[in-house]
Amino acid sequence: MPHLHIEQFQTATLPHKVDNIVLKRIAINVEHCDERLVEVEIGTDHFFLLSKQSGSKNLLKSDKTSRPSTTAHIKQALNAYADIADLKVIDSNTTTTTVQTPKRESHLKFADEFEDIFKESSKTVIEVGFGSGRHLLYQALNNPDVTHVGIEIHRPSLQQVSKQITIQGLDNLYLLDYDARLFFESIPSNSIDTIFVHFPVPWDKKPHRRVISRVFVDESLRILKLNGSLELRTDSPTYFEYSLQTLLGYDKLDLHICKNRTIDISSKYEDRWVRQERDIYDLTVVSHEESKSLQREYDFSFQSGVLDRDIINNLNATTIKNSNSFVHFERLFEFEEDKQMMFRLSLGAFERPEHLYLILASTPYYFPSDPAPSQSAYQAHQSIKEVLYG
Ligand SMILES: C[S@@+](CC[C@H](N)C(=O)[O-])C[C@H]1O[C@@H](n2cnc3c(N)ncnc32)[C@H](O)[C@@H]1O
Repeated sequence: MPHLHIEQFQTATLPHKVDNIVLKRIAINVEHCDERLVEVEIGTDHFFLLSKQSGSKNLLKSDKTSRPSTTAHIKQALNAYADIADLKVIDSNTTTTTVQTPKRESHLKFADEFEDIFKESSKTVIEVGFGSGRHLLYQALNNPDVTHVGIEIHRPSLQQVSKQITIQGLDNLYLLDYDARLFFESIPSNSIDTIFVHFPVPWDKKPHRRVISRVFVDESLRILKLNGSLELRTDSPTYFEYSLQTLLGYDKLDLHICKNRTIDISSKYEDRWVRQERDIYDLTVVSHEESKSLQREYDFSFQSGVLDRDIINNLNATTIKNSNSFVHFERLFEFEEDKQMMFRLSLGAFERPEHLYLILASTPYYFPSDPAPSQSAYQAHQSIKEVLYG
């Protein structure tokens, strides 16, 4: 990730605008004043740069909680801040920045842009965690009338597959940089034909991080059309057993199991496991029921009003637990320029939390955007409102 190794952080006079980059203000961690966040706006990208001591080094780098759409924006913002704050840079990896903002490829979508895509497609396939994208690209190339959606959380994989989509001129494949477990909750019911989950990370020591779970299967069955299927392919006997047990917990399901089935295209992972002579397991679930339509409208807004500073201070480093969700007030920041307060939060379902900021303006708002529309995030939002306003 782009970063600057600097002698010392210096506070610049903000806000400051250079070309299309707006450096807005600086927030300081109220308990650790060497941790600062610089708020940046470049076009529609709103994010923070993070200044922190790492070992004996002072670093200015991108903040993982509010990542922009492209690393070029991080580089531009880092260089712009270093310039106006007159930072002494010891070393950096930001030199290849182009001044022009790269165009966002039309196949790279945001989570809220899929409703129309799903409505307009007669056939839709989703691949969760496509990695190198071999299987996804093959499917899209060989099924031009089918809309394909690849969901990944690993940026280099997204960039690599995005390049391939452009090179191969595919117009039936969209990519989403998102946690599939959260995204599924916002997909309309009965709209997907096939869901592929190929070689998911087994997470043997942290099973709560697995893609397959009871909630994920519930959501998959809801979004699948009648006779649509969820296809798991794995080399891990533990993951296979675990998924089978999860699925056997359902009353009525059509399950198919195959061992060492050959498919048209093998992924990089599959090649590796086959070389090691490991068995490959397929577990396919077919949906036999139409699901009720999704009636979920979540309002993540706050009322306006003056917030009590003592309440805010007391919330720092605390956690509220509900039946199906939680919110953890991880850290409290204060903006230097206007004394606004801000929390870094983790919230939502226990097994798939989201990380984001809550800016305590006169009408508080989430940064860089609202939580993903899910029941657990909404429950957490209600808890935040209760503790802030009583
Ligand atoms: C072991 S790799 C397999 C990649 C590919 N399917 C293959 O067969 O080569 C698992 C992939 O799933 C992605 N992944 C893990 N959890 C995810 C989630 N919750 N949502 C989307 N992608 C996820 C990881 O980033 C990783 O690229």
